[in-house]
Amino acid sequence: MDIARLIADRSRAIDASGIRRVFDLGKELTDPINLSIGQPDFPVPDPIKQAAIDAINNDHNGYTVTQGVAALRTRLREHLKGDVGWDVGEGSPTDLLVTAGTSGALVLASMCLLNPGDEMIIPDPYFVMYPNLAKMVGARAVFCDVYPDFIMTAERVEPLISPKTKIVMFNSPANPTGAVATRAQCRDLLDLCRARNVLLISDEIYDEFTYREARTDEFNGRGRCPSPARFENARDDVLLVRGFGKTYGVTGWRMGYCAGPRDLINELGKLQQFTFTCAPSMSQHGCIAALGVDMSDHIEDYQSRRGLVLRRLREVTEVSTPGGAFYVFAKIPDRLHLTGAEFVERCIERNVLIIPGNVFSRRDTHFRLSFATKRDSLERGLDVLVELMR
Ligand SMILES: Cc1ncc(COP(=O)(O)O)c(C=O)c1O
Repeated sequence: MDIARLIADRSRAIDASGIRRVFDLGKELTDPINLSIGQPDFPVPDPIKQAAIDAINNDHNGYTVTQGVAALRTRLREHLKGDVGWDVGEGSPTDLLVTAGTSGALVLASMCLLNPGDEMIIPDPYFVMYPNLAKMVGARAVFCDVYPDFIMTAERVEPLISPKTKIVMFNSPANPTGAVATRAQCRDLLDLCRARNVLLISDEIYDEFTYREARTDEFNGRGRCPSPARFENARDDVLLVRGFGKTYGVTGWRMGYCAGPRDLINELGKLQQFTFTCAPSMSQHGCIAALGVDMSDHIEDYQSRRGLVLRRLREVTEVSTPGGAFYVFAKIPDRLHLTGAEFVERCIERNVLIIPGNVFSRRDTHFRLSFATKRDSLERGLDVLVELMR
């Protein structure tokens, strides 16, 4: 059969060659120093594992309600009340939906909000899924260049808004740069989106990975990642998207959630019902236990690894300090006259895996290094990178 003839334009429009090339090259290596991984290297805390195992043993293996199991929704309501001050659920104009990964929420939101030809403003550098979300529904991603400090400010976004703009996709802490916006930057972006009647989607999957100097105490005195969700009545104008995968090391469990205006959440729920059906049952039960678990020791450890990475790389190149996540997005020094892709090939020849900037950007001047890896291999990888850039 001529399968090529059958493939729809939306699938043709998606080009996975950049990242596939890195993985293909990586596959040929034996025991590489892998600094390309986008997931934590700490073990899942035992109570979380146990809760998922118990769920399986206690026969919670069927479909759940589309919105998510009641006990998890209750925990999430409490969490959101304490963390962003939102009243969510019964009788409130705000609601939440448990989704199949953070990705699940992002896919549903783009299906729900974007008509063919509509526009979604995304940062450049971006999380690889963002431009493809637009393509999958025939919409257009409009790139907001955020080099060199990687913050998607209102000032940078404003000139890009058109009558077709439906969404501003905000991601702080950001993948691939680790950039964290300040409270004032969050407020200005929210004000702009409100004034122009554009939905602000705040992808906060890395919110727990926010390092000391980037945190804010403005809410409840707890040092947290600044968020547009914490401003007055933000719940009417923001779709807050969060996940469990990175925070608790359960990326394979496919668990996320979103919260925002009830009318929007109802629409997302309708689409979830006819696509994902629900988030995985045992994962939902496991995550009920997750919300109480203190991950701060791991975050401290990541903060110290960040220090090591910055110290070493700054011997040879420019790196802006990532306030969060577990990535640095470093510039390949001009004196080397190499693109990101060429530099990464040299690293791979030396058994080190990193990702070229062009996987996340229209430019190819940087590389992404993940420090979610054991300190010893991080140190060995840094030795190679520093030597190559010297
Ligand atoms: C910024 C960002 N958003 C969303 C996701 C998707 O996360 P999940 O595994 O929960 O679908 C990722 C994963 O890397 C990410 O980096």
